[in-house]
Amino acid sequence: MALRPGLEGVPVTQSAICDIDGLKGTLTYRGFPIDELSVHSSFLETAYLLIWGDLPNPQQLRDFEAEVQMHRRVSFRVRDMMKCFPATGHPMDALQSSAASLGLFYSRRAIDNPQYVYDAVVRLIAKIPTMVAAFQLIRKGQDPIQPRDDLAYSANFLYMLTEREQDPLAARIFDRCLILHAEHSLNASTFSARVTASTLTDPYAVVASAVGTLAGPLHGGANEDVLAMLEEIGTPTQAGTYLDNAISNKRKIMGFGHREYRVKDPRATILQGLAEELFARFGKDEMYDVAQAVEKEAALRLGSKGIYPNVDFYSGLVYRKLGIPRDLFTPVFAISRVAGWLAHWREQLGANRIFRPSQIYTGVNLRSWVPAEERKTASET
Ligand code: CMC
Repeated sequence: MALRPGLEGVPVTQSAICDIDGLKGTLTYRGFPIDELSVHSSFLETAYLLIWGDLPNPQQLRDFEAEVQMHRRVSFRVRDMMKCFPATGHPMDALQSSAASLGLFYSRRAIDNPQYVYDAVVRLIAKIPTMVAAFQLIRKGQDPIQPRDDLAYSANFLYMLTEREQDPLAARIFDRCLILHAEHSLNASTFSARVTASTLTDPYAVVASAVGTLAGPLHGGANEDVLAMLEEIGTPTQAGTYLDNAISNKRKIMGFGHREYRVKDPRATILQGLAEELFARFGKDEMYDVAQAVEKEAALRLGSKGIYPNVDFYSGLVYRKLGIPRDLFTPVFAISRVAGWLAHWREQLGANRIFRPSQIYTGVNLRSWVPAEERKTASET
């Protein structure tokens, strides 16, 4: 069988969670268009939809929200462990370790017990934002802030992170960002989650493996690099020159390109609108003009190859306006994507077969071991 690097175009599972049309630029979660969900739904309702397969009725939603609210706190042991992490470490590494540590506290591994599955889902969705916010304060030498029960999910996260209650518009826009990032079929971190799930390990290990995969700059980590790139470009008039240099030196433009889309990522369009809403209310980010110039100039140079802005291109500008530090952009992505990972975890367990692909061996042919004194040095060979 021919090798397909990066498994491009190779189906490795069936899934009923999310559908992408990369030519039309459409995305649906469980059949609902992302445009509708991002306007009408909340993150917790969308998470419920993704994980359990349908929109909750009012009572189911109230129960789910209440359960998540009840489990937001993390053990002082987790907080103490985080205090031992180096303050200079990347928050994604802190999150990966903290998520994995939950497996020590809830270690029954009863993945065929529906109550265990429900509790694990609730705990992970509830505690990941608390852990992200806690590490942010801990690395500044402060004590983490406890969650506030009178604040909804997104408002509470922003409060724990920034130490002040945010404007309701900011909290709503953040919640909409979480909806947009919650699921995206078999991207690298979700594939990682499914591979880990297929071994029947616990859900905390599943999420920890996915967090580690999301951290890379070709995946979730790109949103950090986009702002660095915009700042390096500096002014809209420099966009064309920067792109010409990058393209001739075979450097990727961060926040552009996608394995699935040949048009602008629908999430990028919505995020751009959210950025404009925020700027209208709280003042413009000067890098927005640079971003628009990059998008326009890139269309001229890369559009014919189907390379357009992806979800990471405008998200950083939104997050920066919300007061989120740059190295927390990817952990914020993880807060949201945990919903998709857990949906895939459940789906994988529903029809599981351990992932064990094959390889094409390219090493040396069979040979015999040689005693150390008879081996040639590099200069003799
Ligand atoms: N800038 C310039 N050229 C690009 C870019 C880009 N961002 N993306 C792809 N290309 C070119 C690439 O040079 C290659 O050209 P050629 O055929 O002439 O050699 C062609 O397009 C195919 O590229 P590829 O790297 O083989 O495509 P891929 O499907 O393996 O990669 C990608 C997809 C997202 C990793 C890639 O587009 C990329 O590295 N983008 C920049 C990083 C980024 O923004 N990542 C976020 C992805 S979306 C959110 C997420 O997954 O978290």
